[in-house]
Amino acid sequence: MKVETQVDLTSSLTFHVPAFASHYVEVEKDDDIREALRYAQNNNLEILILGGGSNMLFHNDFEGLVIKMNSKGVDVSSDDGRRLEVVVEAGEDWHEFVLKSLANGWGGLENLALIPGCVGASPMQNIGAYGVELKDVFSWLEAIEIKTGQLKRFNLKECKLGYRESVFKSELKGEWIIVRVAYNLDRESPLRTSYGAIEDEISEINKIDLTHLDVAKAVIKIRNSKLPNPDVIGNAGSFFKNPIVKKEDFNKLKAVYPEIPNYPIDGEVVKLAAGWLIDTSGWRGHDRGTHGVHEHQALVLVNNGGATGKELWALAEDIMQSVKEKYNIQLEPEVNQISIGKS
Ligand code: EPU
Repeated sequence: MKVETQVDLTSSLTFHVPAFASHYVEVEKDDDIREALRYAQNNNLEILILGGGSNMLFHNDFEGLVIKMNSKGVDVSSDDGRRLEVVVEAGEDWHEFVLKSLANGWGGLENLALIPGCVGASPMQNIGAYGVELKDVFSWLEAIEIKTGQLKRFNLKECKLGYRESVFKSELKGEWIIVRVAYNLDRESPLRTSYGAIEDEISEINKIDLTHLDVAKAVIKIRNSKLPNPDVIGNAGSFFKNPIVKKEDFNKLKAVYPEIPNYPIDGEVVKLAAGWLIDTSGWRGHDRGTHGVHEHQALVLVNNGGATGKELWALAEDIMQSVKEKYNIQLEPEVNQISIGKS
């Protein structure tokens, strides 16, 4: 295990903002992680787990040990000819794994194609897109406890996966490192094409016997048309979560804005589209030179080149204030804020 000092993280972050780690180590095996944890403990260093770097905004350099997950491996742990369980190491790239599963004829992940990030992060915030969430295919995960180094298996219930939420973002925040995830895949899983944009895409393909791969291709096409490619324009996908509001508050808004997109969750709460709230507050395409709001999706903040984390956060704060003033809704960032308030 080789700990490096003063490592530039910029190219490892999809936002491409400047940020250094005072200490940095790459790990492949569970025991590498335990060694890195001991190093951090002995040197009194805070730790930060880095996967695909796709859901973080660094406000400052990080004083502590960045542990970069580089573990690799995709193993079939059970297979009855139709359904199978696949165990994947945390450092695998999410989209590459989705493509690999499709190439093998395994269904279940097609709607989640092209989401940036790594496998270890997928349950952390229960990634979701186009009518499917990670929890729909989740079997179990294994994680290492930071305090003790012990390995534990968590089942679906224990992970408490909700909308962009898990136990690892709430009660157990900062306590465990996810090292591998098992998924339930199915060669004959039904295609989920009811999400409006997919239906439109697929009707264009005009194919009767659609495959999982066709659905993935449609998703990739939609994502490419709406979301900027982080290799070209720095971004971290949706910067904000879609807010969940009480039915009574929603009814008041609907009376004024009958066209407001809404997704009832149960009889009590309704999910609204943060993108619509931001867009109709006048922010879509907002340009501050080095950074701004994406022209096709107001939920995405972009670093056109040269922006700092602090500048992007100042823009996020302006957007949150403006949406609060117009709709009385407090948006919450979906992206993790790192070293916020430090200098
Ligand atoms: N909308 C606007 N203007 C915008 C953006 C959206 O009016 O600038 C409207 C759309 O017309 C639509 C509604 O808002 O009526 C919802 O938009 P969309 O279907 O594009 O989805 P979203 O709610 O904006 C969520 C996820 C995305 C995911 C898409 C597709 C969150 C925070 N975001 O976006 O996830 O790809 O649904 O399922 O839940 C991500 O998490 O990084 C991400 C990209």
